[in-house]
Amino acid sequence: MVDTNHSQSAIANSPPKRVLMGIGGGIAAYKVCDAISTLFKAGVEVRAILTNNAKEFITPLTVASLCRHPAYTDDYFWQPTHYRPLHIELGEWAEVFVIAPLTANTLAKLSLGLADNLLTNTVLASTCPILLAPAMNTDMWGQLAVQRNWQQLLLDPRYHSAGPEIGLLACDRVGTGRMAEPEEIVPWIFSLLHTGGKRDLAGKRILISSGGTREHLDPVRFIGNPSTGKMGLAIARAALHRGAKVTLVTSAALTPAPGEGIEIIRVVSAQEMQQQLLAQFPEADITVMSAAVADVKPTFYSPEKLPKRSLPDTLPLTPVPDILAELGQRKQSHQLLIGFAAQTGDIFAPALEKLQTKKLDAIVANPVDLVDSGFGSDRNQAIFLDNQGGKKAIAPCSKLQMAHHLFDFIR
Ligand code: CTP
Repeated sequence: MVDTNHSQSAIANSPPKRVLMGIGGGIAAYKVCDAISTLFKAGVEVRAILTNNAKEFITPLTVASLCRHPAYTDDYFWQPTHYRPLHIELGEWAEVFVIAPLTANTLAKLSLGLADNLLTNTVLASTCPILLAPAMNTDMWGQLAVQRNWQQLLLDPRYHSAGPEIGLLACDRVGTGRMAEPEEIVPWIFSLLHTGGKRDLAGKRILISSGGTREHLDPVRFIGNPSTGKMGLAIARAALHRGAKVTLVTSAALTPAPGEGIEIIRVVSAQEMQQQLLAQFPEADITVMSAAVADVKPTFYSPEKLPKRSLPDTLPLTPVPDILAELGQRKQSHQLLIGFAAQTGDIFAPALEKLQTKKLDAIVANPVDLVDSGFGSDRNQAIFLDNQGGKKAIAPCSKLQMAHHLFDFIR
């Protein structure tokens, strides 16, 4: 499921955001339909251009129906009915331009600045950020010429890239070349709408924890909590989209795709999370501890599943280390350390106390007992507090948007 919540609150009182989809000729074009549908449901205005080859895979009628607007093809480009050239109109209109699937042919043209159809002319006639989602057979993707074109194109800071992923391709090969899924592309688009394409975290290493830890009694029973890792994933994506090098230490099943560009370190327990975070921490410029770490673990662990009759009437518990407090002790002056305070009832006072006692630079006071907030929800709300007395309330919004607000706040 793609998160459709992102823009609703962002655009409630402002004009709709404008996204231009450039669709190339590849079987992955069908996935673009899903992305357009998600954007439309979130209140984004979408216009689309199909290349002649794209029309072999999906029809302009499909795309027009999803956009609630005619889909542009080269037939429109050459019609003398526009009072201004269509590629100029579309190029000026777009806030974010997405080219998906990006074929080897369109990639080659863009790397040379060639313009021989509506899509490539509109690229040259626009200045907004462009998100590229390549899709092709593994051998095509691996060609020296294709890789040279790709690297050449990415030298231009207006281009951002999603994928390609490793997976089963339409040619039945398994390898690199699969187009990024809409679940990856849509958050990228929302990030670009938020940032305008700026990479204000470029050169920064960002360490994030996510998910609820599991403290096992035996191989099948554990103490845990309802955290799903959605907030941590959103923070990781927002940081990546703003140019950072991101490592996510996670106990959640929900993780970025392997080709998304986020280093993933999987853990289960608080102790494993502590080991991994302590190892990564010295290199991190910013650390965001969004994981819901269990506070206690069963004192005894059975490596074999305990039969029901052997389960104790009362369970002896041992505290687990407070990882964030330990990071606060180790923090150097150039590092920023951000915590979360998952609270019910009064969120402010406990969050302020955690900010001070754990020696944090900022904390997210996060109500987990409200609608549109907390564990498992696609949306969240919070009050950000910093150690200088700064404070910012964030109304309910998508978790990705909350993540961007957090980076705006700490910068
Ligand atoms: N945290 C941690 N290690 C723990 C417990 C919490 O690193 N053993 C971190 C969390 O990741 C979060 C912050 O500390 O960033 C606050 O966690 P929270 O559960 O809200 O509070 P606790 O410190 O556990 O205190 P309490 O449960 O009493 O509210």
